[in-house]
Amino acid sequence: MPTTEPSIPCPDVVSLDAILPEEPLLMMGAGPVPIPAAVAKANAIVINHLGATMSKVIGQVKEMARYVFQTRSKWVLGVAGPGSAAMEMAISNLAWSGTRVLSIKNGFFSARMAEMAKRCGAHVAMLDVADGAVASLADVERALARERPEIVTIVQGETSNTVWNHQLKEIAALARAAGALVVVDAVCTLSTMPLEMDAWGIDAVITGGQKGLSSIPGVSLIAFSDAAWERMKTRAQPNAHWCLDASLAENFWHNAGYHYTAPVSGVLALHEALRLVCAETLEKRFARHLKCSLALQAGVSAMGLALFAPEPCRLNSVVGISTPAGLSPADVCGHISSQHQVEISGSFGLPIVRIGQMGEQCREHNLFRTLHALGRTMVELGARVDLPAGVAALEQSLSENARGR
Ligand SMILES: Cc1ncc(COP(=O)(O)O)c(C=O)c1O
Repeated sequence: MPTTEPSIPCPDVVSLDAILPEEPLLMMGAGPVPIPAAVAKANAIVINHLGATMSKVIGQVKEMARYVFQTRSKWVLGVAGPGSAAMEMAISNLAWSGTRVLSIKNGFFSARMAEMAKRCGAHVAMLDVADGAVASLADVERALARERPEIVTIVQGETSNTVWNHQLKEIAALARAAGALVVVDAVCTLSTMPLEMDAWGIDAVITGGQKGLSSIPGVSLIAFSDAAWERMKTRAQPNAHWCLDASLAENFWHNAGYHYTAPVSGVLALHEALRLVCAETLEKRFARHLKCSLALQAGVSAMGLALFAPEPCRLNSVVGISTPAGLSPADVCGHISSQHQVEISGSFGLPIVRIGQMGEQCREHNLFRTLHALGRTMVELGARVDLPAGVAALEQSLSENARGR
């Protein structure tokens, strides 16, 4: 008998039980966030990616996504991939060689949209805003007049430096009046704060699963306006990205046909995540996020730590905290994770740590555990903080808000 032993030997590996911590970490970073039991349960199911059951699921996902995006547009699609894949789907379907794009850049993720547009061959002009600031309406108006863009890209919440583009509605109106399509990255903000795609005149909105929606990472959502869809449908050359070609994706998401094998378990998880958003309602969800985030911010400040973003443009969905002198974000994140089983994030070289307030992170018990763990971490690493004052401020803010102040 000839030997069948493969030339590359079988690796010696351990099971996940030997890798994962015994007690799951509390995921309080900038995403992924904890998922509800219904989402986890759905994510454990595999069904046929085509057929009547999937069609019903897809129909409901689109319907619920329209509510979450606040759009009546038919053109809602899911994307097998991270938030960045949805971003690339928006950009690569709407921009091509020579397209004039104005990218409003105030951090890492808004820069990613500009980079993607450049890779599509677009002529990209950047409205570069300093870290911790947002573009003024006057700056946007000037840039629109100068660049005459066909497309404007902007992020609602710049997760990297925790800045909120609070004038998104006004900026979208200016861009639209100047004849541009508006592409908005709502990866970290969708379902955590108001975003009205139709009423604000937005032409493409993207989001990931792993943040506000509290679904799994890797299955994302996108919505195009009629005008954006028309631009994509009438382009001269097909999109170079086959998987991200919205015209091909239409087959699956609108015609119950085959494009590629959809990540069925992830779509089921997304269905349940969206269903829970609908059950809560956007209004109550926004109120929960605001209440929890403001209470966390009050606790952090009362403890003696500084919030990174200035108040008017401070993002509530992800809270940035300056690390005290002598401590690096890696020190803080490593210690809080290993000693307190709470996971928070650093941020791409900035001297901050970030605590997420998205979806399931916004629960009062999670806030107390996280703030306590942060305070203990600071004390254990030698920073001076007033932990009891922080916890008291958290409690006070939550109870004042509960009384409807
Ligand atoms: C605002 C924003 N845009 C885009 C992304 C990219 O999403 P993903 O990492 O899922 O590709 C992120 C991820 O943190 C984000 O916060």
